Amino acid sequence: MSRIAYVNGQFMSHDFAAIHIEDRATQFGDGVYEVFAAVKGKLIDSELHFDRLDRSLRALEMEMSLSRATLKLILREVVRLNRVTEGLCYLQVSRGAAPRNHTFPNKPSYSLIVTARRSQPATGKIGIEGVHVITTADQRWQRRDIKSVSLLPNVLAKQKAAVAGAFEAWLIHNNGIITEGSHSNAWIVGDSGTVITHHESIDILSGVTRNRVLQVARSDGVKVIERAFTVAEAKQAHEAFLTSTSSFVVPVTHIDDTVIGDGRPGPVTKRLRGLYLRTIS
Ligand code: PDD
Repeated sequence: MSRIAYVNGQFMSHDFAAIHIEDRATQFGDGVYEVFAAVKGKLIDSELHFDRLDRSLRALEMEMSLSRATLKLILREVVRLNRVTEGLCYLQVSRGAAPRNHTFPNKPSYSLIVTARRSQPATGKIGIEGVHVITTADQRWQRRDIKSVSLLPNVLAKQKAAVAGAFEAWLIHNNGIITEGSHSNAWIVGDSGTVITHHESIDILSGVTRNRVLQVARSDGVKVIERAFTVAEAKQAHEAFLTSTSSFVVPVTHIDDTVIGDGRPGPVTKRLRGLYLRTIS
């Protein structure tokens, strides 16, 4: 079955779907995106993703003419046309094609692309067995709360992790603080099962999965603290894990060469993973 993509008003073969060579996403990284998870063919937490999309668009002074209801219809149609029951749906809005000039075009013709593909994080091996992460310097700009397509530092960090045989790179900010991963949020479990993740700020992306996990943890009576933590603290933690739309909740068993806990997914992580999977199924 051939894949179908949506590009600026048209559903077309994924193989031939393309945007203009002077699209500002390609020349300036001048665009924002969202990744939605689909479970049983339905988009998970779409309102939270659209709320974040609105925040990203506003932060970059971009005004989309399409309503949320229309965007939802397009996303659902791309998911349906690609027969994705479990998978991911990608949406990107850029400031569109315009003669190359750093300043914004006077009347931008925003470009919108949507793709979908299958993936199965709920049953995949990494969620059950856990992963290794490396640490590396956080070289990103100062507005990491905006889900911008300018992802070069994230790409370089993830590549470094891949070369080292690790799943993710945890990014280290000033004073040894871990902000988050290259494409996921970072968590540790401290004494008495206290779950710790970086507080919301311009230093991290406010993950939709992060916020859902915070919610399920609190309603299950798990003690949660939103605060910064250092690499040293993470390496001494009882457990560690990461969260994202593309991988849900994944245990972290090694940080660099340090074994976390007994090197296997810990009880708090497993519990939160189970609770999270229950909320989306
Ligand atoms: N990544 N932090 C960063 C830098 C991210 O890119 C992501 C998401 C997250 C987790 O956010 P959420 O739970 O809303 O997916 C945190 C997506 C999945 C991606 O780029 O593929």
